Amino acid sequence: MTEPLVIRAPAEMTAWSRAAHASGERIAFVPTMGALHAGHVVLLGEGRRRAERLVLSIFVNPTQFGPNEDLARYPRDLPGDLAKAAGAGTDVAFVPDAGDIYPAGFQTTVAVGELSRGLDGPLRPGHFAGVATVVAKLFNIVRPDLAIFGEKDFQQLAIVRRMVADLAMGIEIVGVPTVREPDGLAMSSRNAYLSPAERARATSLCRALFAARDRVAAGEGDARALLETARAALDVDRLDYLELCDAETLAPVTRVDRPAVLAVAAFIGRTRLIDNVRIGIG
Ligand code: PAJ
Repeated sequence: MTEPLVIRAPAEMTAWSRAAHASGERIAFVPTMGALHAGHVVLLGEGRRRAERLVLSIFVNPTQFGPNEDLARYPRDLPGDLAKAAGAGTDVAFVPDAGDIYPAGFQTTVAVGELSRGLDGPLRPGHFAGVATVVAKLFNIVRPDLAIFGEKDFQQLAIVRRMVADLAMGIEIVGVPTVREPDGLAMSSRNAYLSPAERARATSLCRALFAARDRVAAGEGDARALLETARAALDVDRLDYLELCDAETLAPVTRVDRPAVLAVAAFIGRTRLIDNVRIGIG
């Protein structure tokens, strides 16, 4: 398995992309912040299947971290990432420096309105503007035909889809179901922060979501009853939100009478974890 070509300069990345397009090749793109795990690898596999060329980006984007968040200690492992990327058939790893993404004088922001207002929005001020802005910039540098995102970050996925439609970016956005550990815990680079005891309690997030989903399958449609079921299974240190919302608008729902998503964000010790499941029809 050959290592991917590592490109650091944005102009070089765009030149590579132009050359691929000139040869009639389509480019699939998987943006990440590195510390790759099996979930990221599934996204890469999806891209590999869907296009002739596969580009991965690794960039720990400072503008999507709040002042009290984990930017400084976010896990970094470039050699390990490149080995995993090679295994997944990645052609290029685009690994820009922060100074090339945000040079002196940078002052433009992409903000997606309504979809950023609920769930993680108020708890992480500026986070989704940081995500939308960097994803827009990465799209402009990489110029992909399609881009792959995980449903684990379903608010992020909804925001990226909206941005691409609203700004006519002409990039196909592909969502991939959440990849889980054998015990159900959603894979996340942040799971590396958990002590063994915290790791054991972390499974209560998915167990809570699955318990509520099972009740829907058994005929329960009332949001309050479903949220109670889920809450009873949670074993966390601080609950940020547990919410049943419309799968498209992300607005809270009181009954499951159309496709919905049950989403949770909570702290286990100092580590903030999120998870969600689709509920009901569709
Ligand atoms: P990161 O957290 O590294 O995630 C990169 C991509 O992997 C995202 O699309 C995310 O949803 C997906 N992903 C993470 N864990 C997953 C899992 N268990 N199953 C399936 N997909 C999973 O999300 C970001 O980086 C950043 O916000 C980014 C989009 C790169 C912008 O900076």
